[in-house]
Amino acid sequence: MTNGIENKTVWLTGASSGIGEALVHQLVKSRNFVIISARRADKLQSLVDMYPEKLAILTYDVVDEKSNATIASRLGDITDQVDVLIMCAGTCEYDNGPDFDPSMYKRVMDVNFMGTVNTLHAAKPFLLKAKRDNPGSPHIVAVSSMSSLAAFPRAEVYGASKAAIDYLMECASIDLKKEGVDVTIVRPGFVDTPLTQKNDFPMPWIMQPNEAASAIIKGMVKKKRYINFPWQLNIVLTLAKIFPSFWVSKIGPKLVKKETI
Ligand SMILES: NC(=O)c1ccc[n+]([C@@H]2O[C@H](COP(=O)([O-])OP(=O)(O)OC[C@H]3O[C@@H](n4cnc5c(N)ncnc54)[C@H](OP(=O)(O)O)[C@@H]3O)[C@@H](O)[C@H]2O)c1
Repeated sequence: MTNGIENKTVWLTGASSGIGEALVHQLVKSRNFVIISARRADKLQSLVDMYPEKLAILTYDVVDEKSNATIASRLGDITDQVDVLIMCAGTCEYDNGPDFDPSMYKRVMDVNFMGTVNTLHAAKPFLLKAKRDNPGSPHIVAVSSMSSLAAFPRAEVYGASKAAIDYLMECASIDLKKEGVDVTIVRPGFVDTPLTQKNDFPMPWIMQPNEAASAIIKGMVKKKRYINFPWQLNIVLTLAKIFPSFWVSKIGPKLVKKETI
């Protein structure tokens, strides 16, 4: 059965776990060839063992200089074009204080923001080649987060890195329009993955990774500019974005854990 994304060459980062891994299972079901990236080769290999014909492994650390120096040529050994780029690699760390630790801020910004920049840099020629050879538009999908819509306690750098991705991709959407490349920003709420399993606070409307992957693919088929889910959290945080002062003064402080006040 097809899910609407079919016969595409897809490059997917963050494929070894969570939302990215769930996307792999859904993409292979509709005759796509998926180049799967992450740092952990053993996790990627176990996916290839399941779908040997449909996947190729491209190990990639999105922040490592050596990995970035070779990624385009290693991608070129697998394919000469990419129809769909899905950038799902990401990390989350919270500012738990009491000391301000700039190295933690750099770590998160490097993976989430510079990792997106580095991946885009490597993929762009392959996306433009797809444009020349195919009638359909190439498609870039960047996984941001609903945390980019509103301020949360301890999420200083995670939220900032995702807001930076939003801004980067909105600019790219304008700049790449003339090249015929479509851009989608995905903003999940809470999804039950290793990234959130360490969270120590309530996660309303939490979804399973396969539900998140279905929502992403459904939005990609429609070439939506934004794919925000779940809708309940989207309503709350869209209001927070419209009324930031009210959110920061009245709602945000209520989310701070009692013991940290
Ligand atoms: N789960 C949620 O509630 C939620 C909500 C909003 C947004 N998101 C975003 O969704 C994306 C996927 O997150 P997830 O929840 O599925 O988390 P996850 O299960 O921890 O997966 C993170 C993925 O990113 C890869 N990754 C991390 N650092 C990397 C690096 N330096 N280079 C290359 N790959 C790297 C990991 O692979 P390796 O460790 O093998 O490299 C893994 O495949 C992230 O961008 C996250 O910010 C998640």
